[in-house]
Amino acid sequence: MTHSSTASSAAPTRPPPVECLNGGLLLDGVCLCADDWKGDTCSEENFCKAEMVDGLNFPRTPIGWFSYSEEVCPEGSSAGKPRAATRCSNNNGSLAFQHPQRLQCSLTLSDILKNVRNAVDPEILATSAQILTSRPEELTAENVTAAAEIANMLLLSESQSVKTAAVATVSQLLNASVLDNTEENNATLRSTNFSLQRFISENSIKYS
Ligand SMILES: *[C@@H]1O[C@H](CO)[C@@H](O)[C@H](O)[C@H]1NC(C)=O
Repeated sequence: MTHSSTASSAAPTRPPPVECLNGGLLLDGVCLCADDWKGDTCSEENFCKAEMVDGLNFPRTPIGWFSYSEEVCPEGSSAGKPRAATRCSNNNGSLAFQHPQRLQCSLTLSDILKNVRNAVDPEILATSAQILTSRPEELTAENVTAAAEIANMLLLSESQSVKTAAVATVSQLLNASVLDNTEENNATLRSTNFSLQRFISENSIKYS
């Protein structure tokens, strides 16, 4: 049974929250909550709890955010990179991690770039590039340039999950310390940085 409701003209006046919980900031009587809380006083959980999924441990993560496993690749070019990525999502009110996507630990960003050019398995490549750039402070100039090229190509994909991983990769690359390091900041990197920044400003509405 449906019936139309009319908005009450005399909106009940609600006293402003006395205090914002969990680190929320009170601004003009409204609480601005930290990413992992919501509600009038920031008292409602807005995160997936730390959890083991598929044998891997993921830390507490706000809804909509990606999470990387605490377990890392043991050796080789990917040593120390997370073994897998997942995302905290809201399924009809229940917050849960999605099925984790695993990194093949032997892959390097240059391998991925080659495979992207040959259009091999974009879903796996997009996740792998995202995981390999998840610790931006560890990236070399070569890594950043390769990853930016990978992300640019994957953004043309038809698949929403591939595009989402590519956007996450770009936002991680913007935090690469090599981009701020003037010694290493050669012409290639400066133009990579410029195209990353431009990409974000052009797509921030579409992908936010
Ligand atoms: C990052 O770049 C270095 C060389 O600058 C390379 O040895 C390493 O394999 C690259 N890492 C990844 C994950 O591609």
